[in-house]
Amino acid sequence: MTRITVTVDGVAYEEEVEPRLLLVHFLRDRLGKVGTPIGCDTSNCGACTVLLDGRSAKSCAVLAVQADGGDVLTIEGLADGDTWHPMQRAFHEEHGLQCGYCTPGMIMAALDLLKDDPDPSEEAIRSGLEGNLCRCTGYTNIVRSVRRGARDMSGREVTP
Ligand code: FES
Ligand code: FES
Repeated sequence: MTRITVTVDGVAYEEEVEPRLLLVHFLRDRLGKVGTPIGCDTSNCGACTVLLDGRSAKSCAVLAVQADGGDVLTIEGLADGDTWHPMQRAFHEEHGLQCGYCTPGMIMAALDLLKDDPDPSEEAIRSGLEGNLCRCTGYTNIVRSVRRGARDMSGREVTP
């Protein structure tokens, strides 16, 4: 067992973990962060995406020990109390989800994308989210949601 110290959604944890434990299992099974789903376990679908030290990471492709000393943000850490994060609200208002399984990963990946490109074009969004799969194939509304989320986060109007 290895002792790790990691901050998750603003709370510091110190835990003993097996070296082979995946970060997604640590989040879900140890910390109860079940808002981060597992879609494939083979780093293909992106459902498990979180921000690790501010950048998106597929948490099924990261060992918990690799997050030692790190700062993890999951979908559960986005809202401010009862107030949704603008990107969460955008997905709701633009119907960017159907079954919702891919949604946490889509939102976290979108936030990572906006760090490099705060006003992404539709093409940039499709390219930036290509590692995230939606089995309900609602990509049009997902793209629209990200555009609206980007606008709401910056106070800009969406450009055509
Ligand atoms: S569960 Fe991690 S990429 Fe699918
Ligand atoms: S909304 Fe069902 S997988 Fe994307």
